[in-house]
Amino acid sequence: MSLAPPRAWRVAPGGTVSGTFTVPGDKSISHRALMLGALAEGETHISGFLAGEDCLATARALEALGVRIERPAATDVRVHGRGRRGLAPSAAPLDLGNAGTAMRLMMGVLAPQDFDATLIGDASLMRRPMERVAEPLRRMGAHIDTQAGRPPVVIHGTPQLHGITYTLPVASAQVKSALLLAGLSARGATQLTEPAPSRDHTERMLRAFGIRVHQEARVITLEGGEDLRAAKVGVPADFSSAAFFLVAAALAAERPLTLTNVGINPTRTGLLELLKLMGADIRIHPRPGTTRRDLEPIADIEVSRAPLQGITVPEALVPLAIDELPVFFVAAAAAQGETLVRGAGELRVKESDRLAAVASGLAVLGVEHELLPDGLRIQGRREFCGGVIDSMGDHRIAMAFAIAALRARAPIEITDVANVATSFPGFEDCARQAGLGLATL
Ligand code: S3P
Repeated sequence: MSLAPPRAWRVAPGGTVSGTFTVPGDKSISHRALMLGALAEGETHISGFLAGEDCLATARALEALGVRIERPAATDVRVHGRGRRGLAPSAAPLDLGNAGTAMRLMMGVLAPQDFDATLIGDASLMRRPMERVAEPLRRMGAHIDTQAGRPPVVIHGTPQLHGITYTLPVASAQVKSALLLAGLSARGATQLTEPAPSRDHTERMLRAFGIRVHQEARVITLEGGEDLRAAKVGVPADFSSAAFFLVAAALAAERPLTLTNVGINPTRTGLLELLKLMGADIRIHPRPGTTRRDLEPIADIEVSRAPLQGITVPEALVPLAIDELPVFFVAAAAAQGETLVRGAGELRVKESDRLAAVASGLAVLGVEHELLPDGLRIQGRREFCGGVIDSMGDHRIAMAFAIAALRARAPIEITDVANVATSFPGFEDCARQAGLGLATL
């Protein structure tokens, strides 16, 4: 058996799905647990860690900065915190692979250090915009160079940052989180206003590490200079990974399909609202007690097949479903009637231009659609054509079109799928267990 990651998949047309699954740990929360653990005093224990390439890139970067990280088991991690001022310079640039979250949040971690650092990544990450973080960090006194707005990002550490009052131009949890992380070591208060709610894992986890984070409506404030205390972090299963199977079940569940232990933080679950608006049959079974004691609310999610209707997506739900939109578009393509998504221009600067990547895939499937500057208009159809779809090296595009095979009349081949290991190691096995006829090529 070869250990090389698969380069392509062939997914058999049609079929049904069923079963009970637990998808791997949450990517956003795993990144944050490593970083806050590194900045804390003491030993942080992480369980349910996502051992995907993106989070492993964060772990390697922190190790290069002098942090001792142990993994007694694949999903159990111990981070020996060095305190806010305890990181050490790395001789080599820090390579964050495909991980946008890692690069942007590390900019906030590194800006207030007393040494310089250079951040690089793979071809996709080297094309992604970094000024959205660099610019407000400069307002805090940071010295950061980008290459025409993109990586490599060179951070000239500046230990005397000062807090700012800042309104984010886009609803971005990565920008918000980078500024909060820099704000931890800044003089005075950092006060951020979000244009719309974005995922709040950083705020929740900072509180678990003993930091006072004040929130009133869309204004988030923290006072610099407080130290973080190591914590125990239980990472729930990633809602974004569960999303592929939620849609698979809505399209083709033979019996109800259940996903267990899934994080249902309301700043992440816009897809549930969208699928319900389309007529999906979804039941949420909250895990008793988890909402009060744990960092993040957790539930088992049960989905049965139901006919879906096209909808106009409320724009307020877009940031709350941002990573799930690729698979949502597949649901829309299988729904009756038209679906319209606007206000989703952010999809153009993800791991790929996801609006363009989805539009090319829909063309292969024979789905009538219109590519808009900030969205898509999709005319649903009963059955898709088969063919070859280029995932553009984007994990979520690859997985979304694998689900589309459930409604195809001929095989769908998906190319350039190795990056699925960045967020969902084991997707292929999970998909096969659920009932998809997925073969690696
Ligand atoms: C993330 C925030 C989102 C999301 C990304 C993970 C995070 O990005 O798309 O996959 O962990 O903070 P933006 O902040 O750019 O919206």
